[in-house]
Amino acid sequence: MAKILILLAHPALERSRVHKRMVSAVKNMDHVTLHDLYELYPNFDIQIPREQDLLLAHDIIILQHPMYWYSGPALLKQWLDLVLEHGWAYGMKGTALRGKWLMSAISTGGPEAAYTLEGHHQHTLKQFMLPYEQTAKLCNMHYLPPAAITGAHKLDDTAIQQKALQYRALLERLRDEPLDLQQAAQLPNLMELIQLPQA
Ligand SMILES: Cc1cc2nc3c(=O)[nH]c(=O)nc-3n(C[C@H](O)[C@H](O)[C@H](O)COP(=O)(O)O)c2cc1C
Repeated sequence: MAKILILLAHPALERSRVHKRMVSAVKNMDHVTLHDLYELYPNFDIQIPREQDLLLAHDIIILQHPMYWYSGPALLKQWLDLVLEHGWAYGMKGTALRGKWLMSAISTGGPEAAYTLEGHHQHTLKQFMLPYEQTAKLCNMHYLPPAAITGAHKLDDTAIQQKALQYRALLERLRDEPLDLQQAAQLPNLMELIQLPQA
């Protein structure tokens, strides 16, 4: 079984509709560690050795967050800036993360159709995730397409709960079965690996 680390970055989880349910769906899973960055580091004072030890102890790293200005919330950037040190995560002697997997689990206000070349945002979600993809590559990690819940504002509670269960099923799949990376890389949204019966 792979060990999964979820780095949760939501600055207002108490007001969240999507991530609150995603967290409830996955928080008691075996081999899944939920690490709430805003709860731990409200002053952005990240403990680098602690974070690096956590990364070493897991195989699959998930950056879970709402999309903010086509990227992640500020604390996630701070985390990347501080934790992925030269000589540790990248560079000639930086091999600590080699062979691990990185993916993003995001929610967006914009609907799926807006994240197309012809759509309102003129780029796909995968394209917006490019800095994360290249960060993974620089650290010799395997990169997976984002698992995305789109159109958050228009989803009712039942639909959000369904998506949260789909997210849990995705994590079970990633934890329990080896993944064909080339096949997975073709998907625009990793959630498509899991089909749940309609509610
Ligand atoms: C500061 C800020 C920036 C945002 N930027 C984007 C964006 O670039 N694209 C988008 O689709 N939604 C954007 N949104 C909407 C959030 O992604 C959406 O509210 C969130 O995914 C819903 O998840 P939650 O219920 O867990 O908070 C933004 C929201 C905020 C507050």
